[in-house]
Amino acid sequence: MYHPKANPIANRDADFGTPLPIKIGGFVCLNVDGHEITVPEGASIMRAAAEAGVKVPKLCATDSLDAFGSCRVCLVEIEGRKGYPASCTTQAEEGMVVTTQSDRLNGLRRNVVELYVSDHPLDCVSCSANGECELQDTAEALGVESSRYGLEGISHRDAEKDTSNPYFTFDPSQCIVCYRCVRACDDIQGTFALTVHGRGFESKVTAGQLESFMDSDCVSCGACVDNCPTEALNEKTIIEQGLPERSVTTTCAYCGVGCSFHAELKGDEVLRMTPDKQGQANEGHACIKGRFAFGYATHKDRITKPMIRESIDDPWREVSWDEAFRYTADRLRTIQDKYGPDSIGGITSSRCTNEETYLVQKMVRAAFGNNNVDTCARVCHSPTGYGLKTTLGESAGTQAFNSVAHADVIIVMGANPSDAHPVFASRLKHRLRQGAKLIVVDPRKIELVGSAHIKADHHLSLLPGSNVAFINAMAHVVITEGLEAADFIAERCEEDAYRKWREFISGEQNSPENTERITGIPASELRAAARLFATEPNGAIYYGLGVSEHSQGSTTVMGIANLAMATGNLGREGVGVNPLRGQNNVQGSCDMGSFPHELPGYRHISDPAVRALFENEWNVHLHPDPGLRIPNMFDAAVSGSFKGLYVQGEDVAQSDPNTHHVEHALKSLECLIVQDIFLNETARFAHVFLPGSSFLEKDGTFTNAERRISPVRKAIEPLAGLADWEVTMALSNAMGYPMNYSHPSEIMDEIARLTPTFHGVSYEKIDRLGSIQWPCNDEAPEGTPTMHVGEFVRGKGYFAITGFVPTEERATRKFPLLMTTGRILSQYNVGAQTRRTANSEFYSEDVLEIHPFDAEDRGINEGDWCGINSRAGDTVLRAVITDRVQPGVVYTTFHFPSSGANVITTDNSDWATNCPEYKVTAVQATRVTEPSKWQKEYRAFARKQEDLLDKARA
Ligand code: SF4
Ligand code: SF4
Ligand code: SF4
Ligand code: FES
Repeated sequence: MYHPKANPIANRDADFGTPLPIKIGGFVCLNVDGHEITVPEGASIMRAAAEAGVKVPKLCATDSLDAFGSCRVCLVEIEGRKGYPASCTTQAEEGMVVTTQSDRLNGLRRNVVELYVSDHPLDCVSCSANGECELQDTAEALGVESSRYGLEGISHRDAEKDTSNPYFTFDPSQCIVCYRCVRACDDIQGTFALTVHGRGFESKVTAGQLESFMDSDCVSCGACVDNCPTEALNEKTIIEQGLPERSVTTTCAYCGVGCSFHAELKGDEVLRMTPDKQGQANEGHACIKGRFAFGYATHKDRITKPMIRESIDDPWREVSWDEAFRYTADRLRTIQDKYGPDSIGGITSSRCTNEETYLVQKMVRAAFGNNNVDTCARVCHSPTGYGLKTTLGESAGTQAFNSVAHADVIIVMGANPSDAHPVFASRLKHRLRQGAKLIVVDPRKIELVGSAHIKADHHLSLLPGSNVAFINAMAHVVITEGLEAADFIAERCEEDAYRKWREFISGEQNSPENTERITGIPASELRAAARLFATEPNGAIYYGLGVSEHSQGSTTVMGIANLAMATGNLGREGVGVNPLRGQNNVQGSCDMGSFPHELPGYRHISDPAVRALFENEWNVHLHPDPGLRIPNMFDAAVSGSFKGLYVQGEDVAQSDPNTHHVEHALKSLECLIVQDIFLNETARFAHVFLPGSSFLEKDGTFTNAERRISPVRKAIEPLAGLADWEVTMALSNAMGYPMNYSHPSEIMDEIARLTPTFHGVSYEKIDRLGSIQWPCNDEAPEGTPTMHVGEFVRGKGYFAITGFVPTEERATRKFPLLMTTGRILSQYNVGAQTRRTANSEFYSEDVLEIHPFDAEDRGINEGDWCGINSRAGDTVLRAVITDRVQPGVVYTTFHFPSSGANVITTDNSDWATNCPEYKVTAVQATRVTEPSKWQKEYRAFARKQEDLLDKARA
């Protein structure tokens, strides 16, 4: 039985004062206060002392930032040297003899601290940072209780607080102008929102141009708050409720970066999520979502009692868990008796843990007796799985995030990391500021195209739907200009496939001059970008849903892999093909066998040897034919052959395309079971509601975009009494298929037994290593940061032919604009979590971005209601007029259900995987004065369902 390690609050990450040198050459040996210490060349004396357990006072230094040397409290003496150098800015040298403690040094330090104290409120006992303030600690250590300089005279003690940010305050009276916040914003986050205004005594930290934090460029990442040594920048929860008492290290439940956090609690209340410096995905950084937007977990809208009803017009009835399981199992079995065993199915969640996802697919295959299981990855990254498996042999990204630090040229295609993967964006920007080149491929001017200290070398602003033509043209230039990595191709790739592909890609139809009319990218600029990518030593490609969510999504993914192979950019650090996954556990839900044709580990259900393995372990007969994908389930529901659906942690009514069709399908079901933390849009059509548990309420693991399996650890008990894995287990038992796990670690042990890439994974090992990148097995016992080193997983790399086929969705006279969709930083996916936090103060409704030319043509002004029609439906959004989008293209997000963004999107989908073509919808936009018909109906239906919920609660 697995026993988790205790994680007391005292276990906050140690601070070594200055970072380790990035490149470790040799080592030096020195003596600090009598301790012989060996440290890497380039390390500071402060770091060396800290490594030996010698604490040198410090205020402006911290190990997440380069040394700055402004406060002068870290002075030391060095034998044979004059003066008192700052230990944070002085490098350790061979043979140095350093003294950190002496009366003289302490006298100097006391003097500095007294100066700080003379302009600082002396209310330590009542201060919210009492016990966590480095100035307080330093003063105490030096025995400073008051200041010789007195407290009279002009000071900053009455300076006004900035409380504009919903999550933290800035109190200038507590500020010691150490620049840690400014440096954190510049160096870690890369936003450059803070400056120090004025000189000498007048120096004052300010956001933007003397603006409030809320009005400035600040993106609320919290890095300044984390790095502030005093209470000047502090979380409002801490100011209001005091310091936390315990912490649990866990993983963010938002995006596919998978940041590690310390959830810090007082009693059962989470007060703060502190980014974990040891977290390998984030190394102590975070974004507004993971750092601050956790309040949804205890929001009043949480539903904590199981509920059932006969029809969606009936009021909900709260019942016991036992009754809910019995009722659900009876209804599903009745449906199967009436309509056949294949008339029911399940949808797994990319927000739930690996263990929970594994159990849902196991229940469908073993208890439902069919393979009708699918996951929301169907609608986001299923083309990644297909495309990378076909070309490279594994359905996953090739690198660790820190690989980007070695890239010389980076393509970002169809992704907007600043908004959707912010912590990775910060790493990327750091590398760009060091001089790496950037090629952005996106119809829209995303933040990376031009922001503080960042300017893309090329912004290839292609037309939606032309990805394949673009990627082919890039490869065409590489091959026809002789820029390919001939040795790499000869050694690592299939010869015959390469020969055929080379012939295909060299064809004139793929030349930039010919693709220009399809992509809209000038041939000369595309040629320049291709040359740049092919000639820099390390070229890395990062892509997102702007690649996969197309009718040729899988083809583009294969085209990207072709380009990486052709330029020899695979199998080492600094290169690779890197899908940026949307939700926290998209990679994991795919790994865990959520697709109807694949068992865990991407093994086809039709393979008798694979089936036998699972049949032996699960003691059940498995059906050899793939089951229904999500769109097939909806079609079958509408046609009457599919009648029962179990949806765990997904909101298909909001997230899936062609809302009219989805609603029709959901209304056609005889039993819809929704398991979620809120009564989401899908649950309004449900007959059974099983309360879910948030990531804070359970144990498990998430797998991020770098294949990193990270721990999710229970911080509070499930509000509804059961964690999601326990609910699935009980439902399976009620259906007659026994499951009996006492802890999710046992589920992981089963996954490891059955899945070759997970053979070496266990909770003990995850706890020991912090996280593990799969494959983790006998060949790689501690995991695999870089894939395809020396050889591709499939053996030889496969160049797939990637002919461009235009999407059926084209601009016409009736629908002359192409609409594409994306995300905003402060909201997440369908918004169910972030809309229930103060993040909505940053973005409270979906809007339509439209170019000034298109707006003017249509008489649309900023803020007007704008009707958007497509052949699927119509909706109304407020217009934002901006040249972020090019003429002929409009853009929106889908975070708010009443926006109806998916009422407009069509049911076009990827030829290989059925991933919907969210990124291309031909629309017309007109100025209107009232909501659309669907929006009115939606609001009426939502009100009715809320009334039916109120009746249950009453
Ligand atoms: S919260 Fe982040 S973006 Fe805002 S000022 Fe602080 S470091 Fe900069
Ligand atoms: S706000 Fe905090 S981190 Fe920033 S300069 Fe002041 S004391 Fe230093
Ligand atoms: S970058 Fe992603 S994983 Fe990290 S804190 Fe933000 S939302 Fe969470
Ligand atoms: S900690 Fe070294 S000068 Fe401030």
